[in-house]
Amino acid sequence: MFAKTDYEALEKSLRALIRDIPYETANLANASALLWDSLPEINWAGFYKLRGDKLILGPFQGKPACIVIPLGRGVCGRAAEEEKTQRVENVHTFPGHIACDGASNSEVVIPLYRGTALWGVLDIDSPRFSRFSPEDQQGLERFAAALSEALPEMDG
Ligand code: SME
Repeated sequence: MFAKTDYEALEKSLRALIRDIPYETANLANASALLWDSLPEINWAGFYKLRGDKLILGPFQGKPACIVIPLGRGVCGRAAEEEKTQRVENVHTFPGHIACDGASNSEVVIPLYRGTALWGVLDIDSPRFSRFSPEDQQGLERFAAALSEALPEMDG
């Protein structure tokens, strides 16, 4: 098993990285790099941004991924439609799961907000089944909340 992530430290690093930086793409690129660098046993970390009734691929780390996800489709589409975190222990049993990287076995997707409006989602994949514990979910929701808090100050 891998060491537990210090989510408090991760949130501090994120806040330090994005403080006073008003550029959305730059901040999300750095946020995905921070996750990639900090979380053991993941194979994808990144963002999908809501545009109309579709999610469009944003900054990420990992293999090239699908670009457009209709609302309600797959794990990301479900998280966006229900505005609810999806923590999936085994993606192969999730109806409509979209396999961008065949190595993915578990996944967590967390909604992000700009003010009160849904902005999009943070998506993290792992080759390990049940990689994300309830503690991981809680820590990553804090990470996502720190980003959401800062999104109104960013352009793009
Ligand atoms: N597996 C996701 C699609 C995005 S990729 O994992 C990067 C889904 O089912 O929504």
